[in-house]
Amino acid sequence: MTTLTPISFTDTDIDQIAGFEGRVAVFVDPEGRLDTGARRVNKLVKGALARLVEGPKFAKSKPGDALVLAYPAGMAAEAVDVVHLPRRADQTAARRAGASLAKTRGTADVLVLAGNAKRVAEVSFGLAMRDYAYQDQKSEPKDREGAVTVMCSKPDEAKAEAAPLMAIAEGAFFTRDLTNAPANVLTTTSFADQLAEMRDLGLDVEVLDEDELAKLGMRTLLCVGQGSDSPSKVVVMQWKGGAKDDAPLALVGKGVVFDTGGISLKPGAGMEDMTMDMGGAGVVAGAMRALALRKAKANVVGLVGLVENMPSGNAVRPGDVIRSMKGDTVEVINTDAEGRLVLCDVMWYAQERFEPAGMIDLATLTGAIIIGLGHENAGVFSNDDTLCKAFLKAAETEGEGAWRMPLGQAYDDLLKSRIADMKNIGGRAAGSVTAAQFLQRFVKDGTPWIHLDIAGVASVKSETALAPAGATGWGVAALNRLVSDMFESD
Ligand code: BES
Ligand code: MN
Ligand code: ZN
Repeated sequence: MTTLTPISFTDTDIDQIAGFEGRVAVFVDPEGRLDTGARRVNKLVKGALARLVEGPKFAKSKPGDALVLAYPAGMAAEAVDVVHLPRRADQTAARRAGASLAKTRGTADVLVLAGNAKRVAEVSFGLAMRDYAYQDQKSEPKDREGAVTVMCSKPDEAKAEAAPLMAIAEGAFFTRDLTNAPANVLTTTSFADQLAEMRDLGLDVEVLDEDELAKLGMRTLLCVGQGSDSPSKVVVMQWKGGAKDDAPLALVGKGVVFDTGGISLKPGAGMEDMTMDMGGAGVVAGAMRALALRKAKANVVGLVGLVENMPSGNAVRPGDVIRSMKGDTVEVINTDAEGRLVLCDVMWYAQERFEPAGMIDLATLTGAIIIGLGHENAGVFSNDDTLCKAFLKAAETEGEGAWRMPLGQAYDDLLKSRIADMKNIGGRAAGSVTAAQFLQRFVKDGTPWIHLDIAGVASVKSETALAPAGATGWGVAALNRLVSDMFESD
């Protein structure tokens, strides 16, 4: 797994600054005031820092931006990173500041002179999150050895505040690694194996194989994987950090390790992107990891359906009718609308077995959500205003875009089938909504539920605030916050 950059917190020791070989970072507020550390640096570089801060580049910079003072004469450092950070920085600016440092770091050691700056832990979180590169498939991975030292007035406090944030970062890295991995590397089996390893973190992990899934009646899930040589699996991860009798929150993820479309084959151009079609399962895995790492005082169960959607002589055909675990029959009009076939059985199983207090499913479900919302927001569909509002608030706080979409009977009617209980697609219009309606047919009355269509946000072609291009880890922080806001007692 891609490891986090190690970040340590120490008391300020002014004498170390001149001789530090690596990069030294200072914070400067919008008015250009230098704190003790910055003043020390400015003295060493004979006023060059103050001149940079008084210049037009700093004036034009925004909170969280970093300017670089390269090869500062008078210091051993290779550069001084000058970070624009208001005294009362909000969380977003603090995280952006950290992300800026991650981008300038390269492979160097970094000494951050944080002094008594606010939100030191959030800066560290931004740095950790942005300092990610997926290098598992490179013959010569770049050295990421350098470490970060944060000198600040209250190192113990900063360290304690950073710990739960680093749990989130580690969870997000797990999600990114899984989502970035090619499908020949991340098979259904290797995915399940990696989840089973989380037993070491105190999670109960069960891996259900095809025989067990058949016994449970998960026929719609199994029909998606039946054209693949990789065996379908469902993995159940339980974190029991709450009171014994508290009903858990259930997180359900679509884990299509590769989506060719099946017999309804996708066009060749861009098909390679469908390695990320397990992104929903990746977020569930990352969220469970984060909750376990920070020992959340809540009961949360993560369930993922791991399948590969391939065409073959044994694959499910358009026109086939499959009986779901719930008992309703589905006419498979398009084998490329496979995610909902996977989710409906896992969601049903989650409710039958756990009677959850709430259920959130995550899936790279429709291309239509990208047409509607682009790469800025995930589509949010819900039958419960309280849970939905809590999630939207958590996502906003974490800077993870989320936008509520409608549900309604007229959309549901589009799923009517002449020969079965429903079709698996509605038609071109409102493709993301009819997909959500399909899922809602498998939500029991009284189960508060959210469906997150993350097709546009799970993996992107250009960098985002806290992630390089590729898998983002979107959702790990928001789900973690929702758990602490709604399901943890203290
Ligand atoms: N995995 C795709 C959706 C997707 C598209 C994810 C682009 C990420 C980027 C999903 O299984 C799919 O193929 N959906 C179809 C549904 C259609 C057949 C009703 C789609 O969006 O075209
Ligand atoms: Mn598909
Ligand atoms: Zn898919």
